[in-house]
Amino acid sequence: MNLTIIGTGYVGLVTGTCFAEMGNQVTCVDVDAQKVALLRQARSPIFEPGLEEMLARNIEAKRLRFTTSLKEACQQSDLFFIAVGTPPDQDGSADLQHVLQVARQLGEFLERDAVVVDKSTVPVGTAQMVKETIEHHLEHRGADLTIEVVSNPEFLKEGAAIQDFMKPNRVIIGTESPGARERLAELYAPFNRNHQRLLFMGTRDAEMTKYAANAMLATKISFMNEIAHLCEELGVDVEHVRQGIGSDERIGYHFIYPGCGYGGSCFPKDVRALSQMARQRGLEPKILDAVEARNRAQKERLAQKIVARYGEDLRQLSFGLWGLAFKPGTDDLREAPSRALLEQLIARGARIQAYDPVAMEAARAQFPPSWFDDQHLMLAEHQYAALEGVDALILVTEWKPFRHPDLAAMGRLMRHRVVFDGRNQYDPHQLAAAGFEYDAIGRGT
Ligand code: UGA
Repeated sequence: MNLTIIGTGYVGLVTGTCFAEMGNQVTCVDVDAQKVALLRQARSPIFEPGLEEMLARNIEAKRLRFTTSLKEACQQSDLFFIAVGTPPDQDGSADLQHVLQVARQLGEFLERDAVVVDKSTVPVGTAQMVKETIEHHLEHRGADLTIEVVSNPEFLKEGAAIQDFMKPNRVIIGTESPGARERLAELYAPFNRNHQRLLFMGTRDAEMTKYAANAMLATKISFMNEIAHLCEELGVDVEHVRQGIGSDERIGYHFIYPGCGYGGSCFPKDVRALSQMARQRGLEPKILDAVEARNRAQKERLAQKIVARYGEDLRQLSFGLWGLAFKPGTDDLREAPSRALLEQLIARGARIQAYDPVAMEAARAQFPPSWFDDQHLMLAEHQYAALEGVDALILVTEWKPFRHPDLAAMGRLMRHRVVFDGRNQYDPHQLAAAGFEYDAIGRGT
């Protein structure tokens, strides 16, 4: 099939590349000319394992191309995916200006009947709004075309995006049109082998499904973080509780890892946007509000522990920080717990030596320059260099190289053997045997 993907962010770029890999002719459109130039050289603006190789392979095979011109793409294709950003508005609602801008342009440029697919995470009712916007502009120029709009939300995880896209556990296709349903079923047929993964429903159902999925996952995490806090107070080890409840299939092991809060571009934004949808209908989203409040508090847990131990004034102290990205496998710092922690520690005068396997460049570009200028934050060359002379190690992102560190080397490098573990990565007994004081999330024993 010949398709166009509009927006080359995480979702758009992965979607376009994977569809090309499956043999389709794909044109990716982005307004950012620099990004398009980079992508034409098969260089990815995001860190995602396996993506650059796949980009190169499909560009080489002439199945994948990049352009800034949506008009040109409209001449070649009749299947469009909108994958532009839906950043939060001031009140937390999803800001649809980019989505609707694309819809307006499609209305101006389309030359034949088309299926338009919303891939971005968008509030309930957006598919209808996109359809009306396109039709309004078509009517204005006197073009008599049939446009079908489909909601096909994406469920990929950063760091595992290619695998998630290529082997989805479900593909949600929301449409009221039998023709559009058939087109999408055909497009997704290669991803739908062995058992039925395609789920068909209405556009509004599909839009809601995406928010409900992310909100449910965020709720599991926040629930567990709350239990962890209680465990600490009651002298219970939450790691035992996690295993004890996860083994119940109805609960499951996924997304019940307590930690220093969820981050990223999706959970925080989607939980807030769903709350706003509820509020706009006069409802009070009590659970969603609690999930968000718990997460805000959770991002302060490590700083609270540090202040509880050393007091408010941290000017004489230095800390090694392992992990800056909001999770392993990505260089994404959006809503990362590391940022909230750094804000708290730097405000109290602490000095931090940080190391992350891939997010250092992003940190230098995105964190406030004053943190670096005033020498509050230093980026270390490797994970052990971050520990030289520090009073404690703080683990924020559970990258694999941090999971089984050389405790003897750590002990030699650090001024004091203290570990604050925001991801419960270590065995308390092992650390104690190596002479470390260990404070983790919800490990009250
Ligand atoms: C999330 C969803 O998992 C994807 O299914 C969805 O497609 C995506 O949002 C999206 O809407 O685009 P992502 O944000 O890449 O994916 O990251 P996750 O792996 O879900 O992790 C989110 C955050 O939760 C991370 O900060 C992670 O450390 C935290 N987390 C996760 C926990 O604290 N505990 C857990 O048990 C699991």
